[in-house]
Amino acid sequence: MSHGPSAIERCRRLAAFTETPGSTTRTFLSPPMRDVHRTLGAWMEAAGMDVSVDAAGNLRGLYRARRPGARRLLIGSHVDTVIDAGAFDGILGVMLGLALVESLAGRRLGIEIELLAFSEEEGVRFSMPFLGSRALAGTLDTEVLAARDRDGTTVADAIRAYGLDPARLAECRLAPNAAAYLEFHIEQGPVLESLGLPLGVVTTIVGQSRHELTFTGSVNHAGTTPMNLRRDALAAACEWVTAVESLARGTTGLVATVGALEVTPGAVNVVPGRVRASLDVRHASDAGRIRAVEHLLSAASAAAAKRTVTLGAVCKLDQPAVACDNALTDTVAAAFGEAGYTPHRLASGAGHDAMILAPQLPVAMIFLRTPRGLSHHPDEDVLPGDVDAAFEVGRAFLERWEQAHG
Ligand code: HGY
Ligand code: MN
Ligand code: MN
Repeated sequence: MSHGPSAIERCRRLAAFTETPGSTTRTFLSPPMRDVHRTLGAWMEAAGMDVSVDAAGNLRGLYRARRPGARRLLIGSHVDTVIDAGAFDGILGVMLGLALVESLAGRRLGIEIELLAFSEEEGVRFSMPFLGSRALAGTLDTEVLAARDRDGTTVADAIRAYGLDPARLAECRLAPNAAAYLEFHIEQGPVLESLGLPLGVVTTIVGQSRHELTFTGSVNHAGTTPMNLRRDALAAACEWVTAVESLARGTTGLVATVGALEVTPGAVNVVPGRVRASLDVRHASDAGRIRAVEHLLSAASAAAAKRTVTLGAVCKLDQPAVACDNALTDTVAAAFGEAGYTPHRLASGAGHDAMILAPQLPVAMIFLRTPRGLSHHPDEDVLPGDVDAAFEVGRAFLERWEQAHG
């Protein structure tokens, strides 16, 4: 492991850069992202990288090769977080990439390495995830740029407010010599811990659908409005939320979550007139996921119709499942063996930037054990020995990849 502050110490230091003092919340191009860019950018520069922030707010460090025109290996993950997050989701992958470059101590290789700190993977601010990696993939369309946050700010406005130029998004695209992408990430689930393994190799990243539903009824007086004359938006939404849970409980391999519910006007003595609800549906099979979404949208319509409440539904994400590249994953597995670790292969229930880049270049992922399987939670943790193991595997992988592509 590098001799500077450990990857864990650095993650905890960067976790202090937050919109909400006392907890960690860092969304797309919010003010604390400047602190991350300044601190992480300095570490990248000190490691010998050319550092820049692209028009999508991705912090990018290029560690040049011995000669120009070499193939480029990308290593990265995201540096935005969910609300009240842990210290390791996303950012640990960037710290491990940084540690690998630092371990070269200025020695140039037959390949380039680009370290990527993606600006927005979680989709908290605009309910649209993967904005940073989509800029590299060239899939950030005008519809996305027009998406608005709670304050009515568009993605394009947020980019300009950060001092960047949305007209230059095309410059974010992957470089022509980009040849592979490796992402280290915490598993965020219980599998590796249950097997007593420090690391795992990701086979596929399950697909996910995200929708925003709006139930619109009529605001009215809670004391004078008889029950049969109400159009209660919250009662409709609540009936639907229990339908979401029971479908997922009754369907093998399906997970479905209503994570956010916004009730308007939200007063104790007023019949709720409007509810905005989020829906997150995931399944290893795309057909199974799409079937579940269709079923849940019609369940929402039925719950609304029973109360003459109207329903609006907007699809925010329809992301198919993605398989990691076989050859690259086999190289990762060989590096596991060389470093003395079992290359246990597993699917990822969480989404990752790797799934956005996969259509453009071979991707592979290395998981680190998540104590108690706890993530998207302030007590999210990682074990120092597992981080060292990931570093050793990363170093063996880097050597192998350079031998094959340098
Ligand atoms: O929600 C997810 O799957 C990831 O943590 N962004
Ligand atoms: Mn996450
Ligand atoms: Mn993540």
